[in-house]
Amino acid sequence: MPTITAPSNPVSSSSSTLAQVYASIADPLQQVESLLRQQLRSQQPYVDELCRYGCLLGGKRLRPILVLLSARACGSIQPDHLTLATVLEMIHTATLVHDDVLDGATTRRHLATVNSRWDNEASILLGDLLFSQAFYLASSLDDVFACRAIGQATNRVCEGELRQKGTRGDFRLTEAEYLSIIEAKTAELCACSCLLGAHYAAADAATIERLERYGRYLGIAFQIADDILDLVGREETTGKSLGTDLQQQKPTLPLIRMLQTVDAITRQRILQMATSDHRDAHQSLRKLLQQSTAIEYAQQQAHHYADQAARQLDGLSMSDAFDHLHRLTRFAVHRVA
Ligand code: IPE
Ligand code: IPE
Ligand code: MG
Ligand code: MG
Repeated sequence: MPTITAPSNPVSSSSSTLAQVYASIADPLQQVESLLRQQLRSQQPYVDELCRYGCLLGGKRLRPILVLLSARACGSIQPDHLTLATVLEMIHTATLVHDDVLDGATTRRHLATVNSRWDNEASILLGDLLFSQAFYLASSLDDVFACRAIGQATNRVCEGELRQKGTRGDFRLTEAEYLSIIEAKTAELCACSCLLGAHYAAADAATIERLERYGRYLGIAFQIADDILDLVGREETTGKSLGTDLQQQKPTLPLIRMLQTVDAITRQRILQMATSDHRDAHQSLRKLLQQSTAIEYAQQQAHHYADQAARQLDGLSMSDAFDHLHRLTRFAVHRVA
């Protein structure tokens, strides 16, 4: 099992930002890693192999970080927070192993995806197991608050992924619809992580709401940045298959923006490239996007949401944990992985 270190290029400022955050919660994060390993086991050899592989998939652990920092920002990290951080990471990983099937992705977290190393069926069923183990673990808490909040958030995540599937190839998708989809599929789980961190640290209602909003805005910024990376990022750095949004004909913000701002003839040309099955057409489209101001526009939007996230922290009592939550708003938009 890999120990937690900031992923990607160690000289990049985004990974040193993350390294600072990891260092501030190194012990509880290590406990979350242990809990994940404990949970992801089975008496059945075939299932156990898949579960252990799931453990090898070490991501950035953003959702556990959000639970733990929100807890610390409002009080202190309690055993329930460690459980919840583990639950949130299991749910997130479940969505990823399902998402890799939808995207036909071959690489995730610097390793072969479960669907490429095994097959789609194994990936779907491992995702199901992760979801159900996560809810079973959440039910070990004394009250049903967490189960209810996580259930509601997971419903929205699944709805978001379904809505995205339903709009594949629909290049009339508006910016507002796109934002609403990414809010559901990505921001909801970030919001839930912050909400639970604060709630189980006995924060007052206004603070819980603020942190929940912080997580939501951060998640939106994070997904816009992810959609930019899918077009201009490097697979060696992100450790995952890129270019899948164009391959799957998923309209994301840069393309939506470019389609909105070009003349009718260029629009037709772009649509031809976007709906083509050929990699060359996607490559040309990517070049066109890079030459346009659409990527810059998407970056500005990501900054806008990251700023909104940071604003939620205004007026809350300053502490190291708040500083790290602030840092994460910068990381979300400057990250390269
Ligand atoms: C990937 O999430 C899916 C998105 C919501 C963009 P992360 O970028 O947090 O993935 P890991 O957990 O670090 O692998
Ligand atoms: C998926 O978004 C987010 C989920 C909720 C699973 P992406 O499809 O952009 O995530 P990556 O790029 O594959 O990690
Ligand atoms: Mg994907
Ligand atoms: Mg992506």
